[in-house]
Amino acid sequence: MLRTLNLQGVENLKEFKMNILITGVSKGLGLETAILCLKKGYKVYGISRTKTSEISALIETYGLKFEWLEFDLINVDEIRDKIFKNWIGIKIPIHAFVNNAALAYDDIITNMNLGSLDKMYRVNVFSPLILTKYVIRQMILHKIHGSIIHISSISVHTGYKGLAMYASTKGALEAFSKNTSREWGEKGIRSNCLVAGFMETEMSATLNNDQKNRIYNRTSLKKPVDVNSVANTIVYLISNEANSITGQNIHVDNGTI
Ligand SMILES: NC(=O)c1ccc[n+]([C@@H]2O[C@H](COP(=O)([O-])OP(=O)(O)OC[C@H]3O[C@@H](n4cnc5c(N)ncnc54)[C@H](OP(=O)(O)O)[C@@H]3O)[C@@H](O)[C@H]2O)c1
Repeated sequence: MLRTLNLQGVENLKEFKMNILITGVSKGLGLETAILCLKKGYKVYGISRTKTSEISALIETYGLKFEWLEFDLINVDEIRDKIFKNWIGIKIPIHAFVNNAALAYDDIITNMNLGSLDKMYRVNVFSPLILTKYVIRQMILHKIHGSIIHISSISVHTGYKGLAMYASTKGALEAFSKNTSREWGEKGIRSNCLVAGFMETEMSATLNNDQKNRIYNRTSLKKPVDVNSVANTIVYLISNEANSITGQNIHVDNGTI
């Protein structure tokens, strides 16, 4: 049987023109992912509330290849106008969406506060769902076989004291992603979750050494998860090489039990 030729150069050219929307690019995993995408030649549309020095450096280095929008994802109602109408615009095809921005409201369940819960659900769940709605519309409009990646957490699968509310937002994303893959697979749109283990970023900076060591001891590798390893897996899920992977939870967690 004849095999089709693998025209490597042509694939690369297509990938070079990819536009990637990433939330939470000001620091941590989102920043690392944005840098890797830019190094690959992708154009990055990045969102966060803060213009960190790293954001300024990316704008200076990559010019038009990196566009940044100051936006607070708590404002779910403004997503359509501020992100899709006034910023990216309908004419720009979106090839991948990395839903990375999140906040962690951690406390034991008996202390639960509705205001904090509401804020976390807006940022971690409602905004990502609405963003996905417009990303998929744009992918369909431009006939793009796109890739959607939600960043989930190992806390969904193992459980940690104090993380029940936070883990519930990530569990919602995992269910949403699985169902997105079923609903839009026929159009070539893929949806996966990257289930990250404990990484040393600002989000986890409030933990003391004792708490951190207890978390590391639940992993096979006995150390924090490498942010670069997680970001590289996201970039792989974006790429054409991952074109048969959808509806999955990909764990990058140092082998957490
Ligand atoms: N760190 C861990 O151990 C760990 C483990 C498992 C999963 N995760 C997940 O990995 C992802 C990245 O986390 P990280 O550790 O890199 O956290 P991080 O260092 O705290 O970064 C979070 C990013 O999200 C942005 N963000 C937060 N609230 C926002 C809002 N209301 N509007 C717009 N942007 C907002 C932040 O930007 P601004 O503050 O500038 O807005 C920042 O760029 C998250 O989904 C997190 O749940 C983290």
